[in-house]
Amino acid sequence: MQRIDNETVRKILDTADIVEVVSDFVKLRRSGSGYMGLCPFHNERTPSFSVSKAKGICKCFSCGKGGSPVGFIMELEKLSYVEALRWLARKYNIEIKERELSAEELAVASERESMLALNEFALNFFEHTLTESEEGRNIGLAYFRERGISDASIKKFRLGYAPEQRDSLALAAMKKGYSAEMLKATGLCSASERGTLYDKYRGRVIYPIFGLSGKVLGFGARTLKTDKNVAKYMNSPESIIYHKSNELYGLYQARRSIVSLDKCILVEGYMDVISMSQRGIENVVASSGTSLTEGQITLINRFTENVTVIYDSDAAGIKASIRGIDMLLARGMKIKVMLLPEGDDPDSFAKAHSLEEIQQYMAENETDFIRFKAKIMQSTTDANDPVARAGIISSMAKSISVVPDPILSSEYIKECARLLSTSEEIVALQVAKFRNESLEKEGIKAKQAEAERPKVVADPTIHVRSTRSQDKAAFVRPCEMEVLRLLVRYGMVTLATVQDSDGHERNLSVMDYARQELEGDEIEFENADLNALFFAITELQPQWAAELPSIMEQAAETRRQFFEAEMTTLRSQSLSMAELTKKGDQAEKQAELIEADFINQAAEQFVARRLSQSPDNTLRTLATTLISEKYVLSKIYTKDNQKVETERDLLATRVPRAIYGLKSAHLQWDEKELRIKLMQQGGDSEDTQEILQTLQNMRKIIAEIAKFLGERIILPK
Ligand code: CTP
Ligand code: MN
Repeated sequence: MQRIDNETVRKILDTADIVEVVSDFVKLRRSGSGYMGLCPFHNERTPSFSVSKAKGICKCFSCGKGGSPVGFIMELEKLSYVEALRWLARKYNIEIKERELSAEELAVASERESMLALNEFALNFFEHTLTESEEGRNIGLAYFRERGISDASIKKFRLGYAPEQRDSLALAAMKKGYSAEMLKATGLCSASERGTLYDKYRGRVIYPIFGLSGKVLGFGARTLKTDKNVAKYMNSPESIIYHKSNELYGLYQARRSIVSLDKCILVEGYMDVISMSQRGIENVVASSGTSLTEGQITLINRFTENVTVIYDSDAAGIKASIRGIDMLLARGMKIKVMLLPEGDDPDSFAKAHSLEEIQQYMAENETDFIRFKAKIMQSTTDANDPVARAGIISSMAKSISVVPDPILSSEYIKECARLLSTSEEIVALQVAKFRNESLEKEGIKAKQAEAERPKVVADPTIHVRSTRSQDKAAFVRPCEMEVLRLLVRYGMVTLATVQDSDGHERNLSVMDYARQELEGDEIEFENADLNALFFAITELQPQWAAELPSIMEQAAETRRQFFEAEMTTLRSQSLSMAELTKKGDQAEKQAELIEADFINQAAEQFVARRLSQSPDNTLRTLATTLISEKYVLSKIYTKDNQKVETERDLLATRVPRAIYGLKSAHLQWDEKELRIKLMQQGGDSEDTQEILQTLQNMRKIIAEIAKFLGERIILPK
């Protein structure tokens, strides 16, 4: 390949500044003596990519990639050493004497490099044709002029024109030694049936698409014909150098502006980007007509988390934007949406207004996504149709449920409730429902991973030599997990109504019962992480008590609404008085069930919902794992009447079982330890008799519990 003389190499290496180089790709923040940002080599949400200006290197703590400026560019852009040097030379305006590649050299260059080189050649060819040929000026340039594109914009976006002649690019490229294979691989040419090459983009204006390193990865070619049968755009095909879903048009030109304004504006088309940029709004990129992909979001997220999506006000555009928004939300990005006046797209809007006017319009019309989505949905559904209304709430809740930041999501819940004139609890419950569903999905994945790991068997006989408490912790862990699973799922659910010592009726929750039982036997959780989780649930009890009155009020309101709706229907049916009374009674009973169910649902979700939002990683993960456990018995089909019983129906059995299972595990472990002690003493110590007595008692209790667990139990006294 080409050579660069040693002196130039040294100059490049001396000039390249790691912070400046990395900043072209990653948004860096000062952190201690260096800088931190999101790693460009792998997908992450919290920064682990560190850059040291003093040492002149960068490194990702998480995936380990990084290096010197040259190494960084080589790795990131998949360039050879020489290419990386060229990249840096271009960045710092260091001159390298260019030497054209010989046909021989081209043949040995890798396919990737050849394709990039050919694209670079084509770029220059199209650019040159636009301004230097008569056809280019008369047709291509005239078109851009007519659309108000300035020479500066043409230069900045390196726009071009492809001549009408059947094979002008093919001939010019072959003359330079580029192969027919490469011309086809890049999509610049096709072969006719007779095997001759012809140019694909003939008579079209060219929008080159750049990667972040400034390499041309592909082209968009727009026809100038108004014929409906001609495809408006032809785009480069997918290839080893161009993956449409991982590129954003205009990002190369916009990246600095995005970083300095800490915001990215997302539009649809090539011309939208160029016109906005020409007006002075430079932080604009286009998804090029496709709906946003994960790869594109990752790309934006490297530079900023603030995204404003602009779409024209046609229905298709709006639908597309809503889909993209949920994805952006899930990445924890802060999303705003802006609708343009009807009939405008960003291109026409930018041309018709001054920079100040556009900025003012943006300031006034950028809407938080929640308000935007609610508005759109309300405008397309009948507000008086309760089913449609429920659908809106549910769809909004679904969007909110993917927001990872709990503070942000609770703000959204408030806002959403206000916009749809419903209560926060109703929205929050739905959000929790969606969140739990997705947690379950994630949990199942985590569980599968867990299952593939080798298991440590908690069998007390394995540990006879050692009596370290860690072993006990491992032994009782499954039992502790089962208790906690029930507490995370049903902690605040009422297990029974009990009488106080002063004769008052009181609801005993699953958590109340568990605490009572465990404290009574002075049992604490042996595993530190599980103990922390138990403690966290303890702390949720007063919070639940504080929320309960408002939930009960809502439940009562739900009952009232249901009952009234039923009665209205019944009254319209001209029933006899007797029938009306009978059906009215039925409706009342149903309404009562609905009320109870409302409270139960809230209670059921309370602990899991709070814990899944806990800032503590361990707690959150643990809670997630616990609610994702899928127990075979969670649904029981009783033979006699085919009724499906859910686990909640069986709590009165399940909870005591779990608690007594844990008690028994403690006893079994202690019994084993005591027995070992006895054996070691050889049976001739002073306290031998005492130990024997204790052992006997323990075995009796263990047996009793076993019997108790073997039967269906009724509620504890
Ligand atoms: N697009 C495409 N192929 C098409 C139509 C559209 O790839 N046949 C992509 C292009 O990236 C285009 C974007 O979708 O920029 C938006 O399409 P459209 O609004 O039709 O085109 P504009 O870019 O607005 O083009 P112009 O204003 O020049 O008509
Ligand atoms: Mn347009």
